[in-house]
Amino acid sequence: MRLIEDPNELVDTVGCALVPTMGALHEGHASLIRAAAGSGLGVVVTIFVNPTQFGPREDFLKYPRTLNDDLAVAESAGARVVFVPGVDAIYPRGLAAARAEAAVLPLPPAAHEPHLEDACRPTHMAGVCQVVARLCDLLSPAVAYFGEKDFQQLRVIEQMVAMDPTRWPALRVLPCPTIREPDGLAMSSRNVFLNAEERLRAAAIPRALLATKERLAHGESVNIGLLSEAESEMRVALAEAGLGTQYAVIRNSHTLMSAGSDATELRALVAARLGGARLIDNMEVWTRGQGD
Ligand code: PAJ
Repeated sequence: MRLIEDPNELVDTVGCALVPTMGALHEGHASLIRAAAGSGLGVVVTIFVNPTQFGPREDFLKYPRTLNDDLAVAESAGARVVFVPGVDAIYPRGLAAARAEAAVLPLPPAAHEPHLEDACRPTHMAGVCQVVARLCDLLSPAVAYFGEKDFQQLRVIEQMVAMDPTRWPALRVLPCPTIREPDGLAMSSRNVFLNAEERLRAAAIPRALLATKERLAHGESVNIGLLSEAESEMRVALAEAGLGTQYAVIRNSHTLMSAGSDATELRALVAARLGGARLIDNMEVWTRGQGD
C-alpha cells in the first residue's frame, strides 16, 4: 500500500474504486474498503478532514485525527493507495475562495429540499459535494463507495453524479450498509466524544429506529396518521433517554421528502445531540409489499 500526499504523485488511479473518508477509521469505514476491494479494482482511500463541510461552530478542530492507526486499518482492509492531501492540494485557490465557491455551487434537490442535515448544517452538503467532486476529478474512479450511515449524503452524491453526466460519465455510486456496535449504535468517528454514561444512553437511537420498523411492520397499512404517530413516539423515546432531538422523521427513501401514497420504501432518520456529540442514524422501516 502506498501513502500519497502530493496529487502529482497519483498514477494509475483512473478506473479505481474510491472510498472517501475523513479518517479516524473504524469498522464502518473498513467495511467500505473491503467492499471496494471485492470489486477487483485498485482501492484508493482518501483521508481529508474537509474544512468546507464544517460550519463555524462545529467540531472541525476537535475532529479525531489518527493517521497511523488509519493506515493500518486501510491496509488490512485491502487499500492499494491512501491519499492524504493537504488543504492546498484540494483547494489550490485557498480556503476563503473555496468557501465562496461552495456557497454558489449548484446543488441537487436532496442537498437542500429535505430539511434534514441541510436545515441543521446549512453549508454542510455544499462542502461535501465540493470535496467529493474534487476527489473524483483528481482520481477518476469507476466506482465510489458511500455508507448508508450518512443517508442524505449518499442520496446527494448519487444525485450530484447523475446531474452532470458528462463530468464523470462512467462513475457508479455504491451504497454500503451501516455497521453497528453490539448494542446497535451506528459506528461513527464522533462516538469518541461520548462519555461512558452517554455512550449507554446513545443506544436509544437505534432502539427508536427499530421500534419504528416494528410498528410499521405490524400496521395494516402505512398512512400519514400512522407515520406521524410513529415519529412522535421516536421523539418521546429519545427525549426520555435525555437526547436533544433535532429531527426524528420518516421519509420516502428515494427522495427523502415526506412520504406520499406512491412511496415504495420508507426510511426513518434521526439527528440528536448528546453531551458534546451530534449523532445521526437512519434505518429502512417499511417496504411496499413486505407483509404480502
Ligand atoms: P466519514 O464520516 O469519514 O465517512 C466516510 C464514509 O464512511 C461515508 O461514506 C460514511 O457514510 C461511511 N461510514 C461512516 N460510518 C459508517 C458506518 N457505521 N457504517 C457504514 N459506513 C459508514 O462522510 C464523510 O466522511 C465525508 O462527508 C466525506 C464523504 C469523506 C466527504 O468529506
